Amino acid sequence: MEKDFTLLMARDQAMIEEHLANVFRGETHYADLQEAMEYSLLAGGKRIRPVLTLETCRMCGGNLQSALPFACGVEMIHTYSLIHDDLPAMDNDDLRRGRPTNHVVYGEATAILAGDGLLTAAFEQLAGAELPPDRVAAAVSCLSRMAGPAGMVGGQALDMAGEGHALTREELELLQSLKTGALITAAAQLGGIAAGAGPEELEKIRRYAQALGRAFQVRDDMLDVISSEQELGKPVGSDRANEKSTFVTALGLDGCEALVERLTQEAIDALEGFERPEFHIWLARKMACRTK
Ligand code: IPE
Ligand code: IPE
Ligand code: MG
Ligand code: MG
Ligand code: MG
Repeated sequence: MEKDFTLLMARDQAMIEEHLANVFRGETHYADLQEAMEYSLLAGGKRIRPVLTLETCRMCGGNLQSALPFACGVEMIHTYSLIHDDLPAMDNDDLRRGRPTNHVVYGEATAILAGDGLLTAAFEQLAGAELPPDRVAAAVSCLSRMAGPAGMVGGQALDMAGEGHALTREELELLQSLKTGALITAAAQLGGIAAGAGPEELEKIRRYAQALGRAFQVRDDMLDVISSEQELGKPVGSDRANEKSTFVTALGLDGCEALVERLTQEAIDALEGFERPEFHIWLARKMACRTK
């Protein structure tokens, strides 16, 4: 029987929660900025990306604790991307992680600044990691590229530009691999970088995470149609309301199901050669049938 890694994941999540809760401790309070940042950062969330950083570090023979600032930096960038994604000018959603969205509580100006603050402070986290300077530099370079215009931000721009008309399958795939695949790829690669993985290992990790990230977004598109607000902690039907092209509009639910399966297998196949890929295999399978 395949091993269940639920407990291991819960342990990683607890490490991550503890570190995140201390990121802004001792900072000066600037009006309600800190409260707004922590409101979204400490609101739960699956923590898939930072778990991936920690477990990829472990898979490559590294020390989990040393990778924690990298892991939390990635989660801070992810949280900023969600705050901005929910703004009226973007997806205009009012629920996230089971709570009213940041701008609903703090107003748009503070929500924009909370996102800016999390993005900037994320790199302070990376810079403060107790790792050899060449690994820190490689992590900063990887994350800034994957989160920026060549990665997540570029994908979000394509997503917004695509509203109101049908995108081709190719356009949709590029959009998806940038807006979601890029940050998930950075999360995994930062784990490898923390452990001092070589180029061959990093390439396998990149292929695994890119396929996982793509499957993750197809599943996200499906959940927007088949799940409930209560289960997801965010609105359903948001894509349709914003006239987005998604994998559901392009392929239908059955087509999505088949694509998630194919991408999950692609992710698992990329792990060949690793001595201990079991967690990553389990995670890919778990994400393929997630309900939130
Ligand atoms: C939501 O990400 C945004 C996407 C890229 C699909 P998650 O589904 O990982 O959201 P949280 O972190 O669990 O809230
Ligand atoms: C957002 O994609 C991806 C980000 C970079 C934040 P979605 O707009 O589909 O994410 P949800 O469904 O609001 O979480
Ligand atoms: Mg969006
Ligand atoms: Mg959205
Ligand atoms: Mg979505």
